[in-house]
Amino acid sequence: MAAHPVIVAIDGPSGTGKSSTSRAVAARLGLSYLDTGAQYRAMTWWMLTNDIDVSDPAAVAAVAAKPSIVSGTDPLAPTITVDGADVSGPIRGPEVTGAVSAVSAVPEVRALVTELQRSIAAAASGGIVVEGRDIGVVVLPAADVKIFLTASPEARAARRSAELAGVVGGPATDVARTREALVRRDAADAGRKASPMAKADDAIEVDTTDLSLEQVVECVVGLVEERRGRRRS
Ligand code: DC
Repeated sequence: MAAHPVIVAIDGPSGTGKSSTSRAVAARLGLSYLDTGAQYRAMTWWMLTNDIDVSDPAAVAAVAAKPSIVSGTDPLAPTITVDGADVSGPIRGPEVTGAVSAVSAVPEVRALVTELQRSIAAAASGGIVVEGRDIGVVVLPAADVKIFLTASPEARAARRSAELAGVVGGPATDVARTREALVRRDAADAGRKASPMAKADDAIEVDTTDLSLEQVVECVVGLVEERRGRRRS
């Protein structure tokens, strides 16, 4: 019987190089790629666009099943649409970033999005890299390889600022303010009741503070190949 397609879970806070690493690893190994943060952002964008009070969990829960969120899983050109509209730009804006922790803390939202994530992973016949906060612990606890990326708050804030300047097209944002916002969002993501950000017991922690993207990608690709080799032998 053929081995089941490899599933790689990459968790950790933002600014650790999670997205760049996940996409590059998927591209190198010919796997699909899923950015689960983008799905929570898409849900948040829909709530804001429809004037839902995101500070009211009951209001959010009542309409969470309404938007149709679709993720394209090509690591070279990932896409995200809500009810058919491309939202890849707006979901990176400050309004969504400021509201996403509140929306993603609502248990009904997590249940729906988790279901969606599991169905995408199950349909990826060639294997998949899934990045997020709770993938190794909650969404795909049977993943073949689990990675938890970390980095110092300073390194993460510097990367996030550079990323924002690139995406938004504006001047580099204030690193100190970005650091503060990151630390606040991490505390909310790690402290919430419904599946908080967490490192699985069997996850391999990689501190990316002093590593280049290429070094992190090499490390993760090596771990996946080692795992695949073990499964074959
Ligand atoms: O990775 P990101 O910054 O795009 O994620 C946006 C938010 O979504 C983040 O504040 C935490 C939340 N999130 C989550 O709760 N669970 C996931 N699997 C992925 C993201």
